[in-house]
Amino acid sequence: MTVMTRTKFDVVALSKHIGAEIRGLDLREKPDDETVRAIYQAWLDHLVIVFPGQKLSQEDLIRATGYFGELGELSRPPKYFPKGYSSLLPGIMLISNIRENGEPIGALPDGEMMFHHDMIHAEVPSKATLLYSVEIPSTGGNTLFASGYAAYDTLDPAVRERLEGRRATHHYNYGSTQKGDNRGTVAFAECTHPVFRTHEDTGRKAVYVNRLMTVGILDMPPAQSEPLLNAVFDHAEKREFVYEHVWRVGDLLLWDNRCSSHARTDFPSSERRLMLRTTVKGTVRPY
Ligand SMILES: [Fe+2]
Repeated sequence: MTVMTRTKFDVVALSKHIGAEIRGLDLREKPDDETVRAIYQAWLDHLVIVFPGQKLSQEDLIRATGYFGELGELSRPPKYFPKGYSSLLPGIMLISNIRENGEPIGALPDGEMMFHHDMIHAEVPSKATLLYSVEIPSTGGNTLFASGYAAYDTLDPAVRERLEGRRATHHYNYGSTQKGDNRGTVAFAECTHPVFRTHEDTGRKAVYVNRLMTVGILDMPPAQSEPLLNAVFDHAEKREFVYEHVWRVGDLLLWDNRCSSHARTDFPSSERRLMLRTTVKGTVRPY
């Protein structure tokens, strides 16, 4: 009889409010159910999990994504594949600035990206995103993660009272990294969600608006909503609520789009950056 014992791992917090590194796990191996539950709990507690030093195949990445829910179908099959890849499994998307014949092979190729929640402009936004680094530039391209819980808990009560119970409108042009940036494809989507979201697993409330995609408050004139939203963005992006991840090759990151937002710092366009991305489908409409 095989006795299943929980794989031991260490959880090391990376900042006061957000981010933890899970040490001692090789995701090529299949953790038992109890280990998966413990990883899930660490994720709920820390919002962003770093699994360093991984050597994942595409199958490994798909399997690890499944520990956190149902694999999202988002994909954008590339015209050209980077060296070492002849195909991509469904659900895996390339984030890359590598160019073939002058065209980027992946999505969101260049530069800085403002704070955002992935897919907030959809009716049921992605629950989680996983990003696995294959090639990184020598500097920059860091990912900043901000805790929406910490921002909500410490928000100026006067601002919070005016926005409590309100809904915000989100708009996004696929492929853009800055607000009002119409580069990329013409496809876009728009949706409204509560300004403060209650997380269905933890019951905690988080700021659920962001500088890149939130364009207004439902039933509130822009002259009133703009200063309020800017106050929330400025507060939510304060360094004290943020963990900045400096990538190493082999890092797998997992983040919770229900209670955190993220941004990217600039990096040299002359250097290659290649990441594999998967998403976990949302299960509920934000409330
Ligand atoms: Fe993102």
